[in-house]
Amino acid sequence: MQAERLTFDIKPNANPMPEADRLKAFENLGFGTLFSDHMAVIRWSADKGWHSPEVLARGPFAIDPASSVLHYAQEIFEGMKAYRRADGRAVLFRPEENARRFNESARRMAMPELPEADFLDAVEQLVRIDAKWIPQGEGSLYLRPFMFASETFLGVRPSKEYIFCVIASPVGPYFKGGAKAVKIWVSENYTRAAAGGTGAAKCGGNYAASLIAQAEASAQGCDQVVFLDAAEHRWVEELGGMNVFFVMNDGSITTPPLGGTILPGITRNSLIALAREEGLTVNEQPYSFEQWKADATSGKLVEAFACGTAAVVAGIGTVKFNGGEFKIGNGETGAATSKLREALVGIQRGVSNDRHGWVRVIDGV
Ligand code: PLP
Ligand code: COI
Repeated sequence: MQAERLTFDIKPNANPMPEADRLKAFENLGFGTLFSDHMAVIRWSADKGWHSPEVLARGPFAIDPASSVLHYAQEIFEGMKAYRRADGRAVLFRPEENARRFNESARRMAMPELPEADFLDAVEQLVRIDAKWIPQGEGSLYLRPFMFASETFLGVRPSKEYIFCVIASPVGPYFKGGAKAVKIWVSENYTRAAAGGTGAAKCGGNYAASLIAQAEASAQGCDQVVFLDAAEHRWVEELGGMNVFFVMNDGSITTPPLGGTILPGITRNSLIALAREEGLTVNEQPYSFEQWKADATSGKLVEAFACGTAAVVAGIGTVKFNGGEFKIGNGETGAATSKLREALVGIQRGVSNDRHGWVRVIDGV
């Protein structure tokens, strides 16, 4: 509908967090608890299309109790990070892929697509105005673009009004244990997504449905839940918020295929490319939980890891399920996992050559 690019109205926050407070908060960064001074917002309505783009002080939305998102959960989001490189430049990693996936999620959820250039502009405007919120060193500024149905209407049909917003949160490691291998819980009762469902879309509802399984994982002393497929409860799919990879003793790597029930992770896609460039065989093929147990016991499986924007690459040391648990290798993060993690992080941090053109430098920061 929009032929022209949107131009953001920039309204700087009159009461930003004092620098001393920000730096103090930076000393102990977790995930998703601290937020920057601004947000970017664009509104959509059936009659006007995308309109009123602005960057303003981060603050609450006033929405009607009958806003359709509160009833029917028409909501999607993305997760990406801005990094401060040693050379001082602020960069994003493959943000075009987030823009593209956002629109794929929008189509699945019967929401309007936001032109990719406007998605990227919103993200970059926010990073520019909140550049001092990008932590130095190992931390990064996690960016959360999202869109929700804001029409005041209780009928069940796609909303005629939406709010798109980007917020930013300086983050440290996703897992409390830092680089330590994680322990995961296999959910054999709950599934995440069925064929024809919303598994490949990044919609809030997928996460809402996963929380009970994640709570079960926590109660079992595990860091994350891993889901099996909905039809047979047999095939490994993905974790609550990450894709999963298996490293075999012949050096080959297996990861579940994209078939509509798992999220097509940008980290997953990047690691497959990097592994293949290192000469490793990567099989995107179904892997059953039975096989997983058998391979861990026989020693055929030597490493496993989870990957995603928030978690980066995290070794999986122990797998727990109803009826037992097993270790993978010696229960620590393995060498192949560390090497792939370093290859990825090296590109993101500007330490290694960005031969794929994955890094986007943000001008004027
Ligand atoms: N799978 C799920 C369910 C996720 O929430 C995420 C995180 O975004 C991923 C996989 C990994 O995706 P990406 O690498 O694009 O962050
Ligand atoms: C991400 O890695 O960006 C995610 O969205 C995972 C989780 C924090 C929801």
